[in-house]
Formats: sequence, C-alpha cells, structure tokens
Amino acid sequence: MINFGKVLLKKSKLSLEDMRNFISLPIDSNTEDIPIYSYDENIQIMSTYELEQSIKHIPIKDQVIHSIAHIEYNAMKSYIDTLVRFINQVPAQFQKEFKEDLGQIAFEEFQHFELVNQLCQYGSQPVHNNLQKRMMLTMDSLLGRLAILSIVNEGRGMDTGLNLISKLEGDIRYEKVIKKIVKEESNHVRIGLKWFERLNDNKNPQELFLKIMNKYNIPKNWKINVQKRKQVGFNDQWIQCLQNWN
Ligand SMILES: [Fe+2]
Ligand SMILES: [Fe+2]
Repeated sequence: MINFGKVLLKKSKLSLEDMRNFISLPIDSNTEDIPIYSYDENIQIMSTYELEQSIKHIPIKDQVIHSIAHIEYNAMKSYIDTLVRFINQVPAQFQKEFKEDLGQIAFEEFQHFELVNQLCQYGSQPVHNNLQKRMMLTMDSLLGRLAILSIVNEGRGMDTGLNLISKLEGDIRYEKVIKKIVKEESNHVRIGLKWFERLNDNKNPQELFLKIMNKYNIPKNWKINVQKRKQVGFNDQWIQCLQNWN
C-alpha cells in the first residue's frame, strides 16, 4: 500500500480531495524513514532578519496575512507529519481516535490556509522556516511534538491571535478571516492537550512539559491568556506551570 500520508508531506499544493482522502484512508503502518515535510519550490526561505528587511516595503496588513498563510501551511503539514510518523506509537485501542482527531485538525488547517491564501497568494513573499525547524527537533518524540506543536505553537496563536487585528488597518475582510481562524484554533489546543496527557498516562504532565521546553530550549515570549487556557481544559496546575515557565 502506498503511504498516502508520506505523499502528502512531499506534495507542495494540497487539494480538498487530498485532504478528504487523508481523513478516510487508513494510515500505513510503514515505519521506514519519514523525511520532514517540504515546501513548494517557489517558496523563498530566508532567515528572520533577512525576511524583515526584504518585506518592509509591503503594507503591514499584507505581511501579517502572508505570515498567517505560512503558519497555516506549516500547521497542516505538521499534523499530517505527526499522524504519519507516530501512529504506531499510540496504543492500539487509541489509534482510531488519534487518527480522527489529528486528521480533522489537519483538514481544518487546510481550510484556514485556503481562506488566507485567497487574500495573499502564498509564496508572493519570502518566509522563514522556524516552525519547520521546531518540528524537526521532535522527529523522534511524540510527546515532545504534541507539547511544541499544540500546547506551545497553537496555544500561542490562541492566546495572542486576536492582537493581530490591530495591525489590519481596519480591513474588515482580513479581520473576519482572522477571527474565524483564532476561534477554531482553541479546539486544536484542547485536542493536543488531551493527547499529551493521555499518552503520558496523566503522570505529572506539567513536569514533563517543562522538561521538554528545557530540552529543546523553547522560550515563552508572549503572555498566556488564562481565561482561554482554562476554557480549553488547562487546570490550575497547568496555568501555574505556563505562567512560571522560563
Ligand atoms: Fe489554523
Ligand atoms: Fe490549529
């Protein structure tokens, strides 16, 4: 059987059909080396500094919307990668639910990408590959991956995403898209947290989280939104952990 998930990791442009297939086909148990996902050839990758210099002539709202397209693209590929790479490490009785959860999130990230892509044409500006590098750190650790992808990256989007609206110069079309996306990210954080706790057998998840942040040197450079974190299932120990991390 062709490992369809692996095909998607290499493919630069994904269609609705691809995503529907991804959700409905079984995930191959083939464990041979899975390379990290790739970008389209015309995506120009730069360091953060070079990127800032090369896009400073572009209106801020268009920089923001292009950076969101990039975030959504990475999120979609990261969830596909997580599912394909780690499905065999999930206990058999949970595999179906794991596949449904991560497949659904990947599908929603695809929809987010399509929404922002209509506003900016992804690839019309260069990008950095910091998110992809973070995923490469955890190619051999499912719990590390869930912590960084869902609790940190997605969690940051949930905590701070609406702050971006002030940079959109009152553009209602852009604003509507961002509000819809930020709302849906909350559920992704909730699901990531569920799997992080379940696969760690609920043994002091906060201690493990801090160990992972320390191991991979992941900084917290934003303010935690306590109310939103609580809404998606972070209890008091978690809130304390997130606020004191670093
Ligand atoms: Fe998203
Ligand atoms: Fe998300």
